Amino acid sequence: MEDEVPYFTNADEGYVPAKLAERSSKAQPLRLLQFAVRHVIPDVLHFLLQLIPLIVQALVGLVLPAKKKSIRGQTALVTGGANGLGRALCLRLAREGCHVAVVDIDLPGAQRTAADVRQLGVKSVAFLADIASSEEVDRLRVAVETKLGPVDVLVNNAGLLAVLSLSGGNAADLERIINVNLLSHFWTIRSFLPGMTDRHRGHIVGIASIAAYFPVGRFIPYTVTKYAVRALMESLNSELRMDGLDHELHTTCVYPSLIATRQQFMEMLDSLNFLKRFYVFTPEQVAEQIVTGVLANKREVFVPNILALFCKQFECLPSGLRHLLVRCVMRGKIPKLMSAQENGSKQP
Ligand SMILES: NC(=O)c1ccc[n+]([C@@H]2O[C@H](COP(=O)([O-])OP(=O)(O)OC[C@H]3O[C@@H](n4cnc5c(N)ncnc54)[C@H](O)[C@@H]3O)[C@@H](O)[C@H]2O)c1
Repeated sequence: MEDEVPYFTNADEGYVPAKLAERSSKAQPLRLLQFAVRHVIPDVLHFLLQLIPLIVQALVGLVLPAKKKSIRGQTALVTGGANGLGRALCLRLAREGCHVAVVDIDLPGAQRTAADVRQLGVKSVAFLADIASSEEVDRLRVAVETKLGPVDVLVNNAGLLAVLSLSGGNAADLERIINVNLLSHFWTIRSFLPGMTDRHRGHIVGIASIAAYFPVGRFIPYTVTKYAVRALMESLNSELRMDGLDHELHTTCVYPSLIATRQQFMEMLDSLNFLKRFYVFTPEQVAEQIVTGVLANKREVFVPNILALFCKQFECLPSGLRHLLVRCVMRGKIPKLMSAQENGSKQP
């Protein structure tokens, strides 16, 4: 019998409004004082005490170089490994001595990557799978474990970049973007995390985007999925800590700026005059920073690094200033409401 999933619904009993405990207004200041003495002050002291080892750790980290782990002989799985950033990640992981499962809906491309990875002296197999389907991901896990062994490093990279606003495209376009860019992360993590937990070893990498910190109109569905990937990776990291697994299982969420991957995308950026104004990274440069971050068990990797500072400050700015900054950065506007046919998702 399936476990019952606890979530709130109106189906059985209708909506029952919550009853707050009766409070007399006279007793309120005393209650607040009691609450502060009993809960707030001890919690704040506890929090400050727990900060001490973290501050010491951060200061030591500033002086000493980060300790790097070895992933030699481990197996990595990279989604969207046929092309672009995914392909560069497969090759960079292979240089660390990792065997690589190259997963893509573009099988010939995945086979090309796998052949190039094998040239580096490690095992590699191409797998055809649509990671937007949970059934295909479950079958993929069995196939990868049979051919390469259990997965230690899971890289959720595949994604569709869509220049699409809220009213652009049709329902199927939206569903596809959300399924590929977000739900696929759930399917792969649900499929591979239990094995990592049993073996006390694993690393999960989620490729988000600078859009997860710097939301810009005209890319609404894409931005939503990347914000959600950020939330997923942060809450997963928190859960691993809650379960006391954070010394064995690690997560890295990646926030890259522009990467020169497919020509179609570069042409679109050029038509928006972006290429003249922004530095565009090569997939190899980004893969280098990601793998370096993974080896150091970094929770977040920004490409370039300096983006970390900018993104976190941006979130604290008043909305008027944020919009002004966006307008300056975008200099001009991305034309309103592009049609689904012309500007839909960057379909492979
Ligand atoms: N290119 C950029 O400027 C940029 C910037 C920030 C973040 N990113 C993110 O980096 C990741 C890689 O981007 P890219 O530019 O290399 O993309 P890309 O389009 O060049 O390559 C993506 C690969 O994923 C595969 N793929 C797509 N849907 C799939 C599915 N359902 N199942 C399996 N494979 C699938 C494609 O066949 C392709 O090989 C994406 O998540 C993207 O959002 C890209």
